[in-house]
Amino acid sequence: MEYAHDDVRHVAETLFARIDKLENPRDILRAKEIGELYARLRTLNDDQKATFGAEVNSLKQALRKEVSGRTSVADEVRAIDVTAPMDVNCSVPNFLSHEAGSEHPITKEIALITDIFAAMGFTVEESRELDDQYHMFETLNFPKGHPARDDYDTFTTVQTDADGEGFVAPAHTSTMQNRILKKYKANLEANEAIAAIVPDRVFRNEDLDARHEHTFYQIEGVYVAKEVTAGMLVATLQEFLQAYYQKELDVRMNPYYFPFTEPSFEFALSCPFCEKAGCKVCGHEGWIELLGCGLIHPNVLKAAEIDPTVYTGFAFGCGIDRLVMMKHGIEDIRLFHSAKLEFLRQFA
Ligand code: PHE
Repeated sequence: MEYAHDDVRHVAETLFARIDKLENPRDILRAKEIGELYARLRTLNDDQKATFGAEVNSLKQALRKEVSGRTSVADEVRAIDVTAPMDVNCSVPNFLSHEAGSEHPITKEIALITDIFAAMGFTVEESRELDDQYHMFETLNFPKGHPARDDYDTFTTVQTDADGEGFVAPAHTSTMQNRILKKYKANLEANEAIAAIVPDRVFRNEDLDARHEHTFYQIEGVYVAKEVTAGMLVATLQEFLQAYYQKELDVRMNPYYFPFTEPSFEFALSCPFCEKAGCKVCGHEGWIELLGCGLIHPNVLKAAEIDPTVYTGFAFGCGIDRLVMMKHGIEDIRLFHSAKLEFLRQFA
């Protein structure tokens, strides 16, 4: 049989013209003309096979590219019938290919945030997804029955620990403060600071809306050395936020209350969008309340056997979702866990 270069071109023209008429553009990949070209391939001699084969393959590739430009990734995935009887010989289902996936925006931003703090000398620790009430409350100067425990309403297990208390899904990353202080206490003896951050997941029993999720992310910061001041806390946070938003920003601190810091502050940032003029993002305030912070309470240092008459420190806890929402103008926090591809692919 003849080597038929023109035939491939002819088939290409026919198929590209046909795509528009198909309800599912993907069907073009199963067109009978392609089968015929492959059938012809088998009749050719080796030399002709190589050239002709390459042409047919590149036609298929061009068609695939055209199809994927026209279909959304979600269309390519066929639903799996989970009720069907199990067939051990079934083919692998058509999952999203790994190239179609991308890092979650929160994962990306955590990497960025971590880099900024690492450059300032902070080490990174992970939190836990289940913790005990000792770390959630006692080590943080919330004795049993302390009313401020109610501000951290979270999920509790029925199973109890040695103290007879249920385990909790941590409502803040501050649960790691005591562990960090103990782990890095030797730094102080070597005349170095304890400097660590904990970017991780936290949980609260919330009524869900555009600004509240039951599962979200926080970044905790802990810094202890000799003669640490609130000025150092402000400078660290300002430095971080300016690096994160790539902008000069004003900060504002209001007195607040946390059992584990004294004094405690609520920290606001001049709105990076309107620069204090007032806009939708900041609710026309010009300022955005961003995080809680303060100087570490002496009882918290004592719980880790650090002498508060020698050492002082600061701590802060900041909602990561909020930072990211502000950075990208995301209006609903629930999008992060929605698994909506249209949302996630904007950050690919
Ligand atoms: N853990 C506090 C919260 O989530 C924030 C905080 C952290 C405040 C560290 C002070 C110091 O509400």
